[in-house]
Amino acid sequence: VTKIGVLTSGGDAPGMNAAVRAVVRTGIYYGLEVYGIMRGYTGMVENDIIPMHSRSVANIIQRGGTILKTARCKEFLQKEGRQKAYNNLKDLGIDGLVIIGGDGSFRGADVFSREFDIPCIGIPGTIDKDIAGTDFTIGFDTAVNTAVESIDKIRDTADAHDRLFIIEVMGRDAGYIALHSGIATGAEHILIPERKTDMEELISSLQEKERRKKLVNMVVVAEGDEFGGGDQVAALVKERLPNVDTRLCILGHIQRGGSPTCLDRLIASRMGYSAVECLLEGRHNVMVGILNNRMQYTLLEKAVKSKQKISDEWMKIVKILAS
Ligand code: F6P
Repeated sequence: VTKIGVLTSGGDAPGMNAAVRAVVRTGIYYGLEVYGIMRGYTGMVENDIIPMHSRSVANIIQRGGTILKTARCKEFLQKEGRQKAYNNLKDLGIDGLVIIGGDGSFRGADVFSREFDIPCIGIPGTIDKDIAGTDFTIGFDTAVNTAVESIDKIRDTADAHDRLFIIEVMGRDAGYIALHSGIATGAEHILIPERKTDMEELISSLQEKERRKKLVNMVVVAEGDEFGGGDQVAALVKERLPNVDTRLCILGHIQRGGSPTCLDRLIASRMGYSAVECLLEGRHNVMVGILNNRMQYTLLEKAVKSKQKISDEWMKIVKILAS
């Protein structure tokens, strides 16, 4: 490879900028020309592609969002859109791509690299952490720490008013933010898409806690839980426990922004560096991940299909510690 493109795609995640910086500077270090593709695959289709220099990525390691901007591109789902994108890359002579994003972005990259002769390397960048083949995804640590800080604040009010709080965190298909933030803040119950919740058991446990005047009661719900998120769960709880002072708080997009934590900056830097090395070594269609502190290369297709598994042990810990 001689000229590579880098893009960020799907939901933004804190640390994406640190990854872009690492790709650009590693590429330049190895004598490659590096191009930034704006707004994910949209920039590829619409030919919004700019040359990147070492200075283009100055002063961004600490910034949330993504200087390349991001999008969920519909045109790239069609063969015609992908053909356009390919032609634009070919015209510029781009012969390698680094895609920083989550499962949707990797699916796109996988299809594209099967159709055309441009190797694609994925870097897992998503606050959801729902990617297999890596212990970390860029943005998760920052997002979960934002959730923890926010839930700690809600706890103060829950305590002051003896209230029950239903708190919705992000994750329409994945419960990692809910699980980790719920455990770290001492939530009584955690509702996630990966597990069924016995609503009767939840109600009677809350009733029992109400009887013994347990000081703080917090239920953390992932956006995509089986009941349809925090407002549905709050409605059910209010209906069944009309005498309990219940409030709903939806944390929403504050979880996606902000300055990345040290961990997110570190993994972004390591993965960005490693993605360029992969292209130079002739690898293609793999995601770079970190497993047991080693770089791990997983086929893009496999990374999105197998996902990570939530361990039953964590669910047991939630139950035991919330009593
Ligand atoms: O994939 C990241 C994520 O923040 C999910 O947790 C959430 O369900 C979704 O994106 C929200 O997407 P949007 O910002 O497009 O509404």
